[in-house]
Amino acid sequence: MTSFQPLHSVTSQSLTGKLQGFHEALLADYPHICRLACAIYDKPTDVLKTFINSTRQGHAIAGYEVKLHDTPSLLHLANHQQSRVIDDISAEIHGGSVHSDWLLEQGYMSSFTVPIIRQNQFLGFVFIDSVEKDSFTPSIQRDLIMRCASICDAIANELAAAHLLVATASAIRSIANLRDFETGMHLTRMAELSKLIARNLPAHFGLSDEDIEHIYLFSPLHDIGKIGIPDAILLKAGRLTDSERQIMQTHVQKGVDMIDSILADFNLIEANDARIMRNIIAFHHEYLDGSGYPFGLKGEQVPIEARIVTVADIFDALTHKRPYKKSWSVENSLTELHQMVEQGKIDDDCVTALANSLNAAQHIVTTYCDSQEPASNPGY
Ligand SMILES: [Fe+2]
Ligand SMILES: [Fe+2]
Repeated sequence: MTSFQPLHSVTSQSLTGKLQGFHEALLADYPHICRLACAIYDKPTDVLKTFINSTRQGHAIAGYEVKLHDTPSLLHLANHQQSRVIDDISAEIHGGSVHSDWLLEQGYMSSFTVPIIRQNQFLGFVFIDSVEKDSFTPSIQRDLIMRCASICDAIANELAAAHLLVATASAIRSIANLRDFETGMHLTRMAELSKLIARNLPAHFGLSDEDIEHIYLFSPLHDIGKIGIPDAILLKAGRLTDSERQIMQTHVQKGVDMIDSILADFNLIEANDARIMRNIIAFHHEYLDGSGYPFGLKGEQVPIEARIVTVADIFDALTHKRPYKKSWSVENSLTELHQMVEQGKIDDDCVTALANSLNAAQHIVTTYCDSQEPASNPGY
């Protein structure tokens, strides 16, 4: 058995940690600032989503996303690259949306919203809230904008690095014609299903919005190592022989090697998000009873991001047609997943998270359906 340790500890500070440190420093001058939060914007989907926060008073809002075009006031700030001050939240904000209801409940009295713009691109917002009214005078606004620049730079750099990795991997995939056997829709479904499971896991897993974003971005890379598998095996319609299956299973180590060399080339080996990406690629075929491959890890040794992707990948394979099987209904697929939980193979919480979001799971299956079935052999 090959030995490879899951990366549990991070070598560089997460963005959440950086934001908390920044907030701590800010409190010395502005003790009334009780919350700092950043939301990021995904242009292709028009989605603005919670990302990192440092909250000293009130409950943090997490796992929240909204279409930017459905929030005209924020859309205006993004389009005009303007910041906004609300001096008296209770007088100026009226309930009615999840976000405004939440804001009113927290007891914040004034707020300052700053768009994150880099190279003329709108990347998201910084939200700064105070427990006092009229906290953000023009001179304080100027000071905060200046001081926020470093945290905005950190966000912009990390997002750019993550998207660079994904773009590089998808360039390699398309050069290798990987789409012939792995449809683009499978990759989209993997991102959406993994995000759905991650968001609905119990709080004790401690997944932040930042972690969930990385799981969303990197889950489609789980099988990147299949680029190195010969077509005769990868595209074989029938059952694989034992020796062919052994070769197929090397896609995990090939994927780890490939991603490590990309990380080294881009000098990103220490990047915080690299941990989630490597763990997904390295451990997405591990089973909790030790019967998976290639490392035979057991239970808690399998990182949560890998357990999520394993459940999403099996669910996706079950709910879709393959050359050797028909597609199963969402309900029957979940029954099969529950049986695999009983056998001790996959994570109960991940399957429960999926089962608790049946409508959303069904929506993903029907929205992102394949126009053609993939030709590949899954090698399970
Ligand atoms: Fe795989
Ligand atoms: Fe897959």
